[in-house]
Amino acid sequence: MRISHALGAALALGTLSSPAAFAADTSGHKASEPMSRGAYIARTADCTACHTTNDNTPFAGGLAMPTPMGDIYSTNITPDTKTGIGNYSLEDFTRVLREGVNKQGDHLYPAMPYTAYTKMTDADIKALYDYFMNEVAPVERANKESDIPWPLSMRWPLAAWNWMFMDKGVYEPQADKSDAWNRGAYLVQGATHCSTCHTPRGLAMQEKASSEQEEGFLAGADLGGWHAFNITNDPIDGLGNWSDAEIVQYLKTGAVQGKAQAAGPMGEAVEHSFRFMSDSDLQAIATYLRSVPAVNEGVSEETSRFTQGEPTPVDVQVRGLDLDTAKKQAPGASLYMGNCATCHGADGSGSPDGYYPSLYHNSVVGTTRLDNLTQVILNGVHRENNHGELLMPAFKTQLSDEEVATLVNFVTDTFGNPDAEITADEVKDIRDSGE
Ligand code: HEC
Ligand code: HEC
Ligand code: HEC
Repeated sequence: MRISHALGAALALGTLSSPAAFAADTSGHKASEPMSRGAYIARTADCTACHTTNDNTPFAGGLAMPTPMGDIYSTNITPDTKTGIGNYSLEDFTRVLREGVNKQGDHLYPAMPYTAYTKMTDADIKALYDYFMNEVAPVERANKESDIPWPLSMRWPLAAWNWMFMDKGVYEPQADKSDAWNRGAYLVQGATHCSTCHTPRGLAMQEKASSEQEEGFLAGADLGGWHAFNITNDPIDGLGNWSDAEIVQYLKTGAVQGKAQAAGPMGEAVEHSFRFMSDSDLQAIATYLRSVPAVNEGVSEETSRFTQGEPTPVDVQVRGLDLDTAKKQAPGASLYMGNCATCHGADGSGSPDGYYPSLYHNSVVGTTRLDNLTQVILNGVHRENNHGELLMPAFKTQLSDEEVATLVNFVTDTFGNPDAEITADEVKDIRDSGE
């Protein structure tokens, strides 16, 4: 996934003492700006997430996506006739989204989420096609070949994969459900492809379920360095104890104080896609998520990751000690006071307006899956929302694997899940997996 943390890394700690909160929106796309129906659908489907590597040449492709056999690259989908999709007819374009087969007849790797886009209606695909052909600027840039060596690079086995695992076909509304529910189901299973990240995968990398009717839908999955949490309706493991308004707010802003924030791939999905969606579409998503059967894997049996921990003063642990003694006697507390407390508070409460979130009642600190907390410390948070920018600096150059492990264990012990534990080796793996 494309993450630009350069800004976050460049900003020294001290310069952030007054939050640059809600400064001007620099993206050039305000959520309130009117957009065509096709542009809106491109937003909901987040085509840009994988097809844009440089903001000056949107949709020109070239993003490397790792597979177990080697990297593949997203393609140029600007209307350039030589290197992009300028020669695609509506039928060709529809076939890509519905079947994962391109104009040359090659089967695409399911890294392109056609297993979700297959649910999109003809009218939505037509609007999307018109948008790409008429509103996106053509860019001449040749596609990159995949790094997968022959014979593994042969694409015909993908046809067999599709035959075994893909449920082809447009979403069919359920007559006994409300319009809002059907709209939500259509968006979640289709364009917004929540399932691509949140549904666990089987041995052949297929998603184990493609709708609420199959077991395990949205039950949580590892993305290589990140964990996309269980968002089924379970009150402990999933979103069962969130209100509809909180789900809408999370998708719109990426943050619900006292519950969760969106960093990494989810932060990007909020930044590039969900925050542009209408309130009624986000409400429809919340309505549908309510009906996704609860899955509880027993990771936490009584306390949800959102309710772990409480305010705990850390400064008292190092008070009166000189730096060297503090580092020896209370290594976790001194790392916390030195690196985190300025923003998240000496007792982990964050700031009253929630710009700096509390570390107790915070899903990434309250869980035993520590990938996300480790990533956030290593790589920081940078997310644009409809009011401005959110920035947490990256600590990867300042802190060693050992220090990050000490800090993660201290933060989870103090503010979150006491059963959570990480080693320096595991931090190294997450560091090496990249952002
Ligand atoms: C999660 C990443 C991802 C997202 C999101 C995504 N794509 Fe793709 N797309 C890819 C990858 C990777 C390929 C190349 C696959 C391959 O080489 O087999 C691809 C290939 C394509 C192709 C085939 C082009 C060609 O000439 O072969 C088209 C067209 C396309 N995508 C359009 C779209 C549209 C439209 C959207 C939004 C509705 C979208 N993609 C969203 C990853 C993505
Ligand atoms: C590109 C991958 C990706 C997509 C697409 C995606 N998510 Fe997520 N989601 C994640 C990751 C990773 C996290 C964890 C983020 C973090 O901890 O900072 C997450 C977190 C969440 C959370 C917070 C859960 C918690 O316990 O903290 C909610 C709610 C959520 N996603 C809902 C959705 C919905 C609804 C959709 C579709 C409309 C969606 N996501 C699409 C990757 C994704
Ligand atoms: C300069 C201020 C600043 C500093 C220093 C800082 N943070 Fe943050 N932190 C933020 C901001 C801003 C966010 C994003 C809030 C949001 O997404 O709404 C954040 C988010 C987080 C999150 C939630 C991430 C998620 O995905 O749910 C955690 C956990 C966190 N910080 C822990 C830490 C730790 C541990 C340290 C010390 C190594 C630290 N922070 C240092 C400003 C800071």
